[in-house]
Amino acid sequence: MVKTKIAVLVSGGGTNLQALLDAQAAGKLPHGEIVLVVSNKAGAYALTRAEQAGVATAVLTGPDFEARLNQLLASAGIEMIVLAGFLKILSAAFTAAWPERILNIHPSLIPSFCGEGYYGLKVHEEALRRGVKVTGATVHFVNEIPDGGRIVAQKAVEVLPGDTPESLQRRVMEQAEWILLPQAAEMVAEQLSLVK
Ligand code: GAR
Repeated sequence: MVKTKIAVLVSGGGTNLQALLDAQAAGKLPHGEIVLVVSNKAGAYALTRAEQAGVATAVLTGPDFEARLNQLLASAGIEMIVLAGFLKILSAAFTAAWPERILNIHPSLIPSFCGEGYYGLKVHEEALRRGVKVTGATVHFVNEIPDGGRIVAQKAVEVLPGDTPESLQRRVMEQAEWILLPQAAEMVAEQLSLVK
C-alpha cells in the first residue's frame, strides 16, 4: 500500500499538528505520511514540534507565497494538504488546483462563527458573546470560499457557565479538534490512496 503524502501548513503553536504527529506515531494514520510542515511565520512553535518528530520543515514568508509553496509541494511529491491553525487565506487559483485535497480544522460548528476574520480565540469570543450553549469544531475541505468547502466531520462541545475564550478554546481543542483532525486526515488519506 502506497501512503498518501501529506503536507501540514501551520502558523502558530501547532497543537493540531501535534495531534496529527501523535496519531501517526501511534499507527492511527496508516494511509498517510506527514512528510513536510510549512509555516508562514518564522519562529512558530509548530516548527519545533515537526523537527522533534523528524519531519522536514520550511518557512515561507513574503511575496509569491503560493508559487513558492507549489514548488515545495511538487518537489516533495505531496498529494494532500492539511491546514492546522494556518491563518492565511489561500487563493481561488490555489484551492482549485487541489480539489478535495486540502483539509482545514475550524474551531466552531460551521456555518456558525466562520469565514474571513474568524480565527483562533476570536471564534470563541464571538461564540461567548452570542451566548450559544453548544459549540465545537469542524473539519472541511477547502475551496475558494473561506470556511465554505464540503464538511467532512464535526463534533459538538458544551459551553459552560463562567467560560472565558481561553477555557472554551482549550475544551474545544481537547474534546473535538485533536480527535477529529487525525480521524478526518486518515479518512481522506485512505480515499486518496485508493484512487492512485
Ligand atoms: C486551532 O483552534 C484551530 O482550529 C484554529 O486556530 C487554532 C490553532 O491552534 N484555526 C482557525 O481558527 C482557522 N480559521 P494550533 O496552532 O495549536 O493548532
